[in-house]
Amino acid sequence: MPLRVAVIGCGPIGNRHADLYKADELADLVAVCDIRPDRLEPSAARLGVKGYGDVPTMLAAEKPDLVSVATGGTEYGSDHYLPTIQALEAGCHVLCEKPICNTIPEARKMVECAKRNRRCFAIDFNHRFTEAAKVATKWVQDGLIGTQLFINMSMWIKNPNESSPFYMIKALNPHSVDVMRHFGGDITAVQAFCTRAPGRRIWTTMSLNVKFKSGAVGHLSASYDIERGHPMERCEVAGIKGRFVLEDMWREATLYPAGNPIKQVYTNPVFGGHRDFVDTFRNRIHAFLEQVSNGTAPEEIDGSGRDGLAAQTVLQCAIDSLNTETIVHVPEIDI
Ligand SMILES: NC(=O)c1ccc[n+]([C@@H]2O[C@H](COP(=O)([O-])OP(=O)(O)OC[C@H]3O[C@@H](n4cnc5c(N)ncnc54)[C@H](O)[C@@H]3O)[C@@H](O)[C@H]2O)c1
Repeated sequence: MPLRVAVIGCGPIGNRHADLYKADELADLVAVCDIRPDRLEPSAARLGVKGYGDVPTMLAAEKPDLVSVATGGTEYGSDHYLPTIQALEAGCHVLCEKPICNTIPEARKMVECAKRNRRCFAIDFNHRFTEAAKVATKWVQDGLIGTQLFINMSMWIKNPNESSPFYMIKALNPHSVDVMRHFGGDITAVQAFCTRAPGRRIWTTMSLNVKFKSGAVGHLSASYDIERGHPMERCEVAGIKGRFVLEDMWREATLYPAGNPIKQVYTNPVFGGHRDFVDTFRNRIHAFLEQVSNGTAPEEIDGSGRDGLAAQTVLQCAIDSLNTETIVHVPEIDI
């Protein structure tokens, strides 16, 4: 039986979620919801599903099994809190867009609410739900990297939005920190420097040093100042047995075994591979549908709400480091 699914937020990203649920055999898209009629009505008509102007009415009428929260708000995340809590309290499993929320206290409440209600709560960390990332994950699990030494992560995209001083840190980097945590585990300390391109007023480029709980070290370069069109993301993980480079999420993953000049390369196939960025959402949504359908325990969800809280906590510590010009220790997530 497909899961009854509803999407909250009918912006570009909510419409994308809705299209992908419609195309997925594990889902039955039953409704969309937006407080803006000019967004809601065209979406509901285009998708051929019922449209609701408020979340509680939609939840009561449709009783979805699972909802996507694709709202935005301040720092592209303040509007995630309320619909996520409403949906979890109504018994739904929730896939929430990144960042989990723009404030840590609210993000914590979201994770606590999911735990209290025993619901699966996931974040749309689509950047790591690719075939190339799976190949790289297997290299780590198979011991081909060995004890980790360093992770170098870079992510950049042109974004002229200047809605808050820390918009780039909080809205872009949930993805990059999640990828770093996915391969390297928990981050325990950070130290940040920021700059900005000429004419910009907010911090739009960051250099972040990190220390992992494992003892490995790492670095993140992140920017909203670089034009689109070139590659935008690169993750390099090095250990005593080997090193890999994951290029642009899905394009290529290369393993350089230590002491062996013959490398292994996964290249996105022309037939059956990723066509574009939308496929990262397709994979991520399908993975959550699969985990919920299979009865995966809430604490086993890939790219969980707790991971979202952990990433946002690292980023808050980066902001604190920037403001105080100190190394900041990252508190453990105790939920
Ligand atoms: N995962 C990714 O790669 C990726 C890429 C881009 C954006 N995003 C995220 O997707 C989210 C949505 O982005 P967008 O560009 O579509 O945003 P948007 O602001 O254009 O759309 C959000 C919509 O949500 C509606 N909304 C807000 N509060 C609501 C509520 N309580 N009930 C019902 N509707 C409500 C708004 O009216 C608006 O139409 C953001 O959080 C953003 O960070 C993720």
